[in-house]
Amino acid sequence: MENKSVKRQLAALFLSGAMLLSACGQTATDDVETGGSPSSLEQTTEADTNDTEPASETANEAGVDTAVYMDVSASVEDRVAALLSQMTLEEKIGQMVQAEQAGLSPDDVTTYGIGSVLSGGGSAPSTGNTAADWQARVNELKEAALKTRLGIPLLYGVDAVHGNNNVYGATLFPHNIGLGAANDPELMEEIGEVVASEVRAIGVQWTFAPTLGNPQNVSWGRTYECFSENTEDIVPLAYSYISGLQGDLSDNAYMDSGHVIACAKHFIGEGYTTDGTNQGNVDMTADKFDELLSSGVLDPYISALDADVLTVMASYNSVDGVKCHENHHLLTEVLKEQLGFEGFVVSDYNAIEQTSGTTYKDQVALCVNAGIDMFMEPYSWKDCIQALQELVEEGTVSMERIDDAVSRILRVKFIAGMFEEEIGGAAEEEYLSEFGSDAHREVARRAVRESLVLLKDETSGNETAIEKLSHAKNISVTGQKAYDIGSQCGGWTISWQGQAGNITQGTTIIEGLAEVRDPDVALTHSVDGSLADETDAVIAVFGEVPYAETDGDRDNGQIRISAKDAAMLEGLRGNLSSLPDDVPVVAVIIAGRPVDLTEYEDMFDAVVMAWLPGTEGAGVADVLLGKYAFSGTLKFH
Ligand code: BGC
Repeated sequence: MENKSVKRQLAALFLSGAMLLSACGQTATDDVETGGSPSSLEQTTEADTNDTEPASETANEAGVDTAVYMDVSASVEDRVAALLSQMTLEEKIGQMVQAEQAGLSPDDVTTYGIGSVLSGGGSAPSTGNTAADWQARVNELKEAALKTRLGIPLLYGVDAVHGNNNVYGATLFPHNIGLGAANDPELMEEIGEVVASEVRAIGVQWTFAPTLGNPQNVSWGRTYECFSENTEDIVPLAYSYISGLQGDLSDNAYMDSGHVIACAKHFIGEGYTTDGTNQGNVDMTADKFDELLSSGVLDPYISALDADVLTVMASYNSVDGVKCHENHHLLTEVLKEQLGFEGFVVSDYNAIEQTSGTTYKDQVALCVNAGIDMFMEPYSWKDCIQALQELVEEGTVSMERIDDAVSRILRVKFIAGMFEEEIGGAAEEEYLSEFGSDAHREVARRAVRESLVLLKDETSGNETAIEKLSHAKNISVTGQKAYDIGSQCGGWTISWQGQAGNITQGTTIIEGLAEVRDPDVALTHSVDGSLADETDAVIAVFGEVPYAETDGDRDNGQIRISAKDAAMLEGLRGNLSSLPDDVPVVAVIIAGRPVDLTEYEDMFDAVVMAWLPGTEGAGVADVLLGKYAFSGTLKFH
């Protein structure tokens, strides 16, 4: 691992040299570590399966020789080569598409030999949204893939971005912005392990996480999906989290059945778009952007590669008007050649359609030739198959490119142990029985505790506001977000955008306070800023409404608390005047980024940034009531 790390650091340093050389019209790729390049790529020729005789005693009924590729003791590269050499063009292209599960039949998977399926944000099985419903649906599609001639396993991907967040009852962690504030690499690895187990419980082997962007403008609606605005903060967290998700894959180890494939996303530059616009443009020449990459922006990806991350997702954003999805320099020269990435690059949801080609076929050509290996084309996957087929037949896309893409996908499937995977086996059942367990929730609760940042804590008398709160006997809690699991989880929870209300299992902040308080402490609660007659401490909980991606983009300076919460604060302001001065008034902010509190700041003696804590509201209570100290620090300013 250390060697690899050093090599990659050198490769990154080399970037600037490569840029210089290419500016002089030379290429530098001979001097750097190149990605993939297994002997399999040189050996591959397309098999004409119609003429294939059962090649050996190990040939299956369909005449396929499974001896090497099903042999777990053979090397991954030999297995890739043995399988690839027997694949038809149709079978290869099938591996390169990813379809959305909604509306997809098991027959589609078998007939088209689809390589991968996703559940986009909020896409639950039609039968229901429990972990058991998911497991049944995922496994029926996985079984369909095994009925194909070659029996290549289906890779199923979900956005488990703060826990297995689509599924009812999952343990949900703080969104990454909170984990960045916690800044605890060891904890990140533990979280990765728990998330992997809850994802495996439903039969899924791949999560599209973590996001490694470093937002430069918090107007961006995806700010909360990122750990920090500084890449150096992201580096150790990315490494540990991916190690937790995937397990230790060093020394050619296969992944075990308790881990999942991670996906470093979105490559690259997403945090630098003009005005923080989601999917926007980075207004920089390609050369300037290369300089930016060398100055540290690539480091989180280098760290992800050091942790052996198996997949990378391309970013929707463009650089100097060119979409990353069609940028050969970024996807192939930088990521695959210079950084030596040997896994595969998946496109983002319908992102192909945003590229510059005038027809869909042109767009597919641009992207596959730029270096996209798997096409996340949720509902246009059939068009994508057809386009790829025609492009190869016409010679616009070479067989070498197809073989490279498919080798990468197969390599990941082999390394992830998918050819040995037991569908719905004992391990999966065990993970299902631990789904949403107390032990998992305890890890999330700790993460919540560590993520809280104390922004202000004024002293009056001899005590700070938080100290006073810790021994108050009559606490008035106000604000709807104090008893709202949906709001405290934010976007990417049950549905793509998330939603206020009782949308999944967990502990709200008020429930957490009730659990953690000493037995003689009275808690009252209102939504409108009213307070109990007898009040010796006030906690006001408020912030942003849930959102995801573009829906969370805001104009500069318009990052405000919700209108309902603002009305609550106005009510509270009126009521505070009747309280004695020494009663501590504590704000708890539930938001995906720093919010503008200028109008309200004078109301509060203490301000706590709680981010989007997830399902374990008791973690907030643990720290508010003084059972644990505040330790989170701001990673955004
Ligand atoms: C997001 C990705 C996500 C994908 C699949 C896209 O809209 O940009 O981060 O992985 O959807 O749900």
